[in-house]
Amino acid sequence: MMRAAVLAGVGSCLPACAVSNEDLAKRLETSDEWIRSRTGIRQRYFAEPGTATSDLAAGAGVRALKSAGLSAVDLVVLATTTPDRPCPATAPTVASLLGLPGVAAFDVSAVCSGFLYALAAAAGLIATGGYATALVIGSETFSTILDPSDRTTMVIFGDGAGAVVLRAGTPDEPGALESFDLGSDGDGRDLITVRAGGSEQRLSGRQPQAGDAYFAMAGREVFWRAVQRMRESARSALDRAGRVPGDVDRLVCHQANLRILKALAHELGIAPERCVGNIAEVGNTAAASIPLALDHAHAAGRIAAGERLLLTAFGGGLTWGSAVLTWPQLPIG
Ligand code: UT7
Repeated sequence: MMRAAVLAGVGSCLPACAVSNEDLAKRLETSDEWIRSRTGIRQRYFAEPGTATSDLAAGAGVRALKSAGLSAVDLVVLATTTPDRPCPATAPTVASLLGLPGVAAFDVSAVCSGFLYALAAAAGLIATGGYATALVIGSETFSTILDPSDRTTMVIFGDGAGAVVLRAGTPDEPGALESFDLGSDGDGRDLITVRAGGSEQRLSGRQPQAGDAYFAMAGREVFWRAVQRMRESARSALDRAGRVPGDVDRLVCHQANLRILKALAHELGIAPERCVGNIAEVGNTAAASIPLALDHAHAAGRIAAGERLLLTAFGGGLTWGSAVLTWPQLPIG
């Protein structure tokens, strides 16, 4: 029997402080009505100063390990847009916080598609026999790169972390990852970006140009590209798994915007009641979005063991990705 990566645990972690639309409307020219109707978001969480991306990642990691009944793994892969520091990577810090000294640990940078890129990398390392278990985490303190005066991004993004455990198994087991599709288009790098702080616009001893140290997104331009790329990627992942949209029990998309999610489900021909998500409660948490949605849906009993899941995401880079898997039997809580 072929070896496959099998999902064996799930967990998440949110900062303590929820920020409602009304809270934001006190500081910015916006309203609860605009945010709800344009995005579907009711609230998001912002981490307190002193809470790093690694702290949220470790919180989600502990819960995912518990859910898998494991105390250690061979590999930690962290997807994040907001690492603790530009150098070094954050995954080794997370491994240390989790008491996993010596394990392989690396970061993946693909913004909102990051979790699916990280999942594919870890699944590949398991399937080829190099590793037996992996912790794959998406974690963001996205609020640290938002411009506090930019209503177009402040109302959308939030902080949080989600994680899954993968272990070596066989393709016929519940939890087995069936297929992936990944893609990118660097020509679109200006559409979702932080311009300063890298080799292009160096910050050593200099102030960045106004606004360039903050995250910026051309929302309207990104909207339809997100729908188109996720639709094509989702179809391609289904093709590779020998499946069709009718085989999908649950569609779990990157929680970008409720209108995007509805348009995508419609274009794929997947009924709205088969979509699970938590955008209203957590907003767009970038790389953390899919594992956070998985953990919340699992805890709420909205994903059952044996159901086939289609995961899909789109984000900065531009990047996109999709995965097909079945959901395993996991403990709740
Ligand atoms: O996660 C990675 C991928 N990201 C995405 O997929 C995001 C894709 N884009 C979106 O979700 C949406 O484009 C947004 C939610 C970002 C914006 O929604 P929209 O319906 O595309 O609005 P818009 O940018 O076309 O703006 C409509 C109006 C504008 O005013 P005018 O020019 O019509 O007078 C904006 O200035 O709404 C205004 N506006 C706001 N008004 C109140 C923009 N942000 C706000 C706000 N509150 N927060």
